[in-house]
Amino acid sequence: LAVSIDDVINVCKRRGIIFQSSEVYGGYAGFWDYGPLGVELRANIKQAWWRDMVHRRDDVVGLDSSIIGSPKIWKASGHIDGFSDPMVDCRTSKLRFRADQLFWSRAEVDGQLLGYVSLLETDDMDELVLEAATKLQRKAGLRGTLSCTPVKDFTEASDEEQSLVPSPATGEAGSLTPPRAFNLMFQTNVGAMVDQSSVAYLRPETAQGIFTNFKNVVATGRVKVPFGIAQIGKAFRNEITPRNFIFRSREFEQMEIEYFIDDQDATWPVEHERWLQTMWNWLKSIGLREDLMARDVHESHKLAHYARACTDIMFTFPFGTQELMGCAARGNFDLTQHAAASGKSMEYFDDETKAKYVPHVIEPSIGVDRLMLAVLCSAYAEDEVGGEKRSVLKLHPRLAPIKAAVLPLVKNKPELVEKAQAIYKRLQRRYYVTYDDSGQIGRRYRRMDEVGTPYCITVDFETLEDDSVTIRERDSTLQRRIKLPELLEFLEEQIDA
Ligand code: GAP
Repeated sequence: LAVSIDDVINVCKRRGIIFQSSEVYGGYAGFWDYGPLGVELRANIKQAWWRDMVHRRDDVVGLDSSIIGSPKIWKASGHIDGFSDPMVDCRTSKLRFRADQLFWSRAEVDGQLLGYVSLLETDDMDELVLEAATKLQRKAGLRGTLSCTPVKDFTEASDEEQSLVPSPATGEAGSLTPPRAFNLMFQTNVGAMVDQSSVAYLRPETAQGIFTNFKNVVATGRVKVPFGIAQIGKAFRNEITPRNFIFRSREFEQMEIEYFIDDQDATWPVEHERWLQTMWNWLKSIGLREDLMARDVHESHKLAHYARACTDIMFTFPFGTQELMGCAARGNFDLTQHAAASGKSMEYFDDETKAKYVPHVIEPSIGVDRLMLAVLCSAYAEDEVGGEKRSVLKLHPRLAPIKAAVLPLVKNKPELVEKAQAIYKRLQRRYYVTYDDSGQIGRRYRRMDEVGTPYCITVDFETLEDDSVTIRERDSTLQRRIKLPELLEFLEEQIDA
């Protein structure tokens, strides 16, 4: 990927797409604000998903559940007990890390475990690990042959082995506390009393609102298994190390579907694969670069507490290949848990077969913010037009914040301005469009290229005579004349695809 994350961050800041949250106070880690164009891009991403997953399907309906719900939900779902990341604190720097973001090595003297050495990933890893392990050996006063082997997943080490950390060795970071579970849910209090009885949580996933409304939707909607419930909404996680711009933040938005299927063992693998393909094709259809996408099948020991299988769709961001979205087979874990905790049946009755069962579920889940970053990384390009360097966002017209710019060739000719304004007002009824009459036409094109506007419509003297305009296409920069009555139809075909 030729794009650097700085290129993307810079264009986002310069053109009002994404700002640091609380920037006037020096920022606030893990939180982001979306500016005038960012809010449009996000809305378009969400709208495309909703159209394709809900409106254009016969088997999915929508839902919007509350962000804060009864804390009993999170007890039953397993999030109070199990939704945590292993975390370590650095004793000297007071920095906090996710244990799985550190590079762990097992240090042995003559084959006997000495301890674990943990370092933040850097280039000269081997040297640093050895240096750190040597310190550890000296401290232990042990003679013998020292060897270090990288540990793939430190959280797999037994409790006893984990207690051998702290190692003194963390490069510049100093020594670490042993890893401990850190619950990712944000707590608050509901009502006037601030005590244990009023503790509530901001939801860490939108999924639970879907499970707890399963019976309501079955009772009131005309749905039959297999069917899905879709939801878009904010989720909150007190991430230990928010990083990589909007990739991992503490407040983000999810687009999730719980797709309810029968409880036969043969069904879920088929539906799971079907949803993976649906999502892959959808991501492609909105302009994600397929050469940057890949699948990652979770090994069974790495599954979340609720999942029986999970495959991620990965994306190669400028900072590495990372999870873009997950598609989990959650079995009937959640419905069963809520049935047991609430005492309310979550069974589904099939009218045709007369079978009664708790449905199983397939869950494609994607973050809006993470997808927005993948969209921006796919779209960002630098090229040359007429010997001049330009930066361009090659966004799919469906996602582009501004769909078209109306540009009067000059601004001191009243009939021409009037005509351009009339076209602008007409398009505005349908799309978010802009009007720009300042500066040379080439510069105006360039401004629009940089924010991904797919079409520029130039109104010139000829327009007054033959009712045609010049339409310029962003990626190819090709220009052609089009009659005004055909303009809307053309845009509709491109944008509402
Ligand atoms: N309901 C299932 C669930 O929440 P997850 O893998 O924890 O599963 C699903 O999250 C998706 O939500 C991720 O693939 C990612 O796109 C997005 N996501 C999760 N944590 C995020 C964070 N801290 N910041 C931004 N997006 C996040």
